[in-house]
Amino acid sequence: MNLDLRQADLAHVFHPQTDLARHAEVGPFLIERAQGVWVWDAEGRRYLDAMAGLWCVGLGYSEPRLVEAARRQLERLPFCQSFGGRAHAPAIRLAERLAALAPPGLTRVFFASSGSEANDTAIKLAWYLWNARGAPQRKRILARRRSYHGVTVASGSLTGLPLLHGGFDLPQPFVHHLTAPHAAQQAAPGESEEAFAARLVRELEEAIATLGADTIAAFVAEPVIGAGGVIVPPAGYFPAVQEVLRRHGILFVVDEVITGFWRTGPVWGAEAFGIEPDLLVCAKQLTSGYQPLSAVLVREDLYREIATESGRRGSFAHGFTWSGHPVACAVGLEALNLYAERDIARHVARIAPEFQRRLRQAGEHPRVREARGLGLLGGLEMREPADAARLEAAARARGLIVRAVGGDTVALCPPLVIEGAELDALFDRLTLALGDLG
Ligand SMILES: Cc1ncc(COP(=O)(O)O)c(C=O)c1O
Repeated sequence: MNLDLRQADLAHVFHPQTDLARHAEVGPFLIERAQGVWVWDAEGRRYLDAMAGLWCVGLGYSEPRLVEAARRQLERLPFCQSFGGRAHAPAIRLAERLAALAPPGLTRVFFASSGSEANDTAIKLAWYLWNARGAPQRKRILARRRSYHGVTVASGSLTGLPLLHGGFDLPQPFVHHLTAPHAAQQAAPGESEEAFAARLVRELEEAIATLGADTIAAFVAEPVIGAGGVIVPPAGYFPAVQEVLRRHGILFVVDEVITGFWRTGPVWGAEAFGIEPDLLVCAKQLTSGYQPLSAVLVREDLYREIATESGRRGSFAHGFTWSGHPVACAVGLEALNLYAERDIARHVARIAPEFQRRLRQAGEHPRVREARGLGLLGGLEMREPADAARLEAAARARGLIVRAVGGDTVALCPPLVIEGAELDALFDRLTLALGDLG
């Protein structure tokens, strides 16, 4: 039996995050190859990938330096575990580089393979810490509605999207969700940005008072909510949240799986919003998507508490087969070399204002309720939620890949290396697609 690819997909592939009933009717969207910001489908049609794959291919497709880094590592040492103190150069050097890039005080790096695993790890670290401190009742985790933190039982519980919970018995009761900092839908008519932020912070204070600060382990947030609808928080929100968390001794876990590595302008979204994380979770652009790799960056003093507790227990008994996989780490190191050599920070600073200007221009279309974004991350929230999926389909027919997210928003997250003419192609195609909605 050797079915053609389309038939074999329909017969055997169980697709993630897919309407499987519809998939059986429409079949796969088969991608064959990619170069730079472009991908080609099996019929040879070319698309500008304005989603950088899945928010990850920051350096663009088919980058020979990343391919070569993987090949070299595969030949030299294709696998080495990190359990029991085993070590190898790629993980050591990458941890060193991440610590140098990290916000102040975050010196320790725990590797995993996905954003979900890294967020699960962050939850377990928070619980482990509070148990070690003799406060085992601190189990609750605060998160926000519309956030996306992953799909495992724990990280999927942090996620604040009902579509991701339904049918899976999520969220688990240790998570308490707060209002999303989503002015377009949550601010009262005439409420200023400052007043909206202050109301959200009051809600946080009230939740802590009701639940009891001594039952709460951590607060988890994306600096800009990505897959929940590209939601940029109001000015003043994060500094005020941080102050409340500090006052109550609640750990601040910053999920930078999308926002890390210059996506919003600075290296971290935390920097863009003046957040000082206790734990920082990153993935995706860490390897430009070429290898599955995530990391939890941990404050030195917290690490020391954990290390002492692990000595008492006989082990820090958490970790994955692929924690610090040498090929993934070698590719991550080379990606960081390329971000530096190509001065991606300066490139993003130069091109992001034009991206945001064109995004807001597209947002003037009557079917769009609001255009918003930061850096090279953007979203168009549609007046009619169903228009988000329609716009995704219309864009694809015009040779542009965008993604409907959060039920009402179309996300744009092009490779960071996108150049001016490609930006023109992106927005020309988006404008045509908006026109196709009628
Ligand atoms: C902010 C954020 N956190 C966590 C995740 C989960 O990552 P993964 O799909 O690698 O488990 C994602 C995935 O898109 C994400 O956007």
